[in-house]
Amino acid sequence: LRVGLLFGGRSGEHEVSINSARAIATALQTGDNQSKYEVLPVYIPKNGVWQASEVGQQVLETGTPLVCDDSNPQQLWDFPPEVKTVDVWFPILHGPNGEDGTIQGLLTLMRVPFVGSGVLGSSVGMDKIAMKTAFAQVGLPQVNYKFIERSQVWSNACVFPKLCDDIEQSLGYPCFVKPANLGSSVGIAKVRSRSELESALDSAASYDRRIVIETGVTAREVECAVLGNDNPKASVIGEITYDSDFYDYETKYTDGRAQLHIPAQLPDNIITQIQEMAIEGFKAIDASGLARVDFFYVEATQEIFINEINTLPGFTAFSMYPQLWEASGIKFPELVDQLIQLAVE
Ligand code: ADP
Ligand code: DAL
Ligand code: MG
Repeated sequence: LRVGLLFGGRSGEHEVSINSARAIATALQTGDNQSKYEVLPVYIPKNGVWQASEVGQQVLETGTPLVCDDSNPQQLWDFPPEVKTVDVWFPILHGPNGEDGTIQGLLTLMRVPFVGSGVLGSSVGMDKIAMKTAFAQVGLPQVNYKFIERSQVWSNACVFPKLCDDIEQSLGYPCFVKPANLGSSVGIAKVRSRSELESALDSAASYDRRIVIETGVTAREVECAVLGNDNPKASVIGEITYDSDFYDYETKYTDGRAQLHIPAQLPDNIITQIQEMAIEGFKAIDASGLARVDFFYVEATQEIFINEINTLPGFTAFSMYPQLWEASGIKFPELVDQLIQLAVE
């Protein structure tokens, strides 16, 4: 089978995607996969114009993004001719324009199978407002939250103070302000005062038309990997610890700033509950193939809150998703093989 490895993308997580693709390409050239699969690297530079052949291969080998001029956009529709030879796509694009259903719509129209969730699962999983609404619908416990719109933030001097009063009263401090549609903590702020709240709302409004605000909890951060289509399975649980204020972009991607603990030390009943909730969350958004579901666990009260789902989670050799499966008995190359088989079944 010819696997189109689609990576890069027009998103703040472009570099992470290149690293994920490098790990997957290596896995496709390992053991039994070598004779089953042929890899076609298809790279989406920041200008959005797809590159296969030498450019794709070069970015995959060097790990360095292509420097490109976005001021004079070429036609996106001039796809490289090799695109037509792909039997199955493995899109490993994180964040907007890749994890959010846009690419999944294009691949659906191409009528070529692809790894991971379809249009609906991808878009609901990406949008924190749609995601929370889907989780609430099936009764999954979440921290308190509010949805607001940019127009309320950038409204007249009468409306904005009332909005802040309302947030303070209903959610309190600390609270988290998040643009609805980003990833890797981009644009997220933890706020502890009125002035921080005002500037965080203004900043989030510059990223997105819709904003989520949540009560901040003091909790352990635990994650569960899900694999499958109609009968998804949950992995062992992993935990993330770090020294920073929260798990922000820098902590996520600076070597040594965050530690992964696999498996997490948790009571058996909590492990089972998290695994069940991960599968419920996966189904609630209509995910398929893979997803990593992230939780807050408040030890003192034994409460578990679902935080979010990532339908194309980080997939480097050191990322949580493949490591959770490794600890659950599925090695990286086998995991990649299973994901492709789930796409073509
Ligand atoms: P992203 O989709 O960008 O990863 P998250 O919603 O997972 O965004 O938030 C990023 C990080 O911010 C979390 O991993 C956690 O460290 C912190 N965080 C987010 N929401 C809360 C909350 N309600 N309480 C405590 N910490 C939070
Ligand atoms: N959005 C990043 C890649 C993750 O969830 O792992
Ligand atoms: Mg997160």
